[in-house]
Amino acid sequence: MTCPTSPTWTLHNGDALAVLPTLPDASVDCVITDPPYNSGGTATSQRVNQTARGKYVGSNVKHTLADFAGENRDQRSFGYWMTLVLSECLRVSRPGASALVFSDFRQLPAVSDALQAAGWTWRGVIPWFKPNTRPQRDGFRRSCEYVLWGSHGPLARHPDPVYLPGLLQGSQPSGKKRQHITQKPVAVMQELVKVCPPDGTVLDPFAGAGSTGVAALAEGRGFVGVEVTPHYAQVARERLADASTEAGA
Ligand SMILES: C[S@@+](CC[C@H](N)C(=O)[O-])C[C@H]1O[C@@H](n2cnc3c(N)ncnc32)[C@H](O)[C@@H]1O
Repeated sequence: MTCPTSPTWTLHNGDALAVLPTLPDASVDCVITDPPYNSGGTATSQRVNQTARGKYVGSNVKHTLADFAGENRDQRSFGYWMTLVLSECLRVSRPGASALVFSDFRQLPAVSDALQAAGWTWRGVIPWFKPNTRPQRDGFRRSCEYVLWGSHGPLARHPDPVYLPGLLQGSQPSGKKRQHITQKPVAVMQELVKVCPPDGTVLDPFAGAGSTGVAALAEGRGFVGVEVTPHYAQVARERLADASTEAGA
């Protein structure tokens, strides 16, 4: 189902690999996405046999946010699947576009391989520092997740040059602002969408609660999102509609 409710954003409720092939070639200017990490635990069995809630919501956490799909691939199928999705994203993006893909430490090598196998030019990794992570007894805090950066060939030049940070910082939203288990902070996403040209369109094939799109609209960019879990597609639509109104679109 497609819901084009304003000229500046569209949210498709469907599977990324079913929806992306319906999008035209070279129709977006940037891909920014936070896929299901298919991570957690220390063994493949722990990754494939648990729900997203089971993996990413601590037993001490009170919220009852809905589960989401796509968290049960084993290591090799995750890498292959990410390659398929990122290949379609390359086709849909204009030459010179950037791709920014979130990952945690476990899946960073697999996502890096998938990005390059899909045809993106490997550009770097931007750590996202989260100040409020748990201490690890006798070890190090896992204070960072990572944004992997690739480009569709040589980078497009912005009419007015931008110089973006090499390190991002921000905590996950809490309280009523938290609407998705693995929600990203809009302020962090606003830094990322600046890699998209000012009049361009951002694509997120794993939109979740729509944080990438909310940031894109706040920064004056258009947005195309895909989300498979119906509950989160609806949450994303509501947040995008509000953001669109706030941006005066
Ligand atoms: C890590 S979350 C994204 C969270 C988002 N960045 C936010 O801030 O709200 C990944 C999302 O991808 C969705 N997803 C999983 N498999 C998918 C698929 N095959 N196609 C589209 N979306 C999928 C999940 O339902 C989940 O909401």
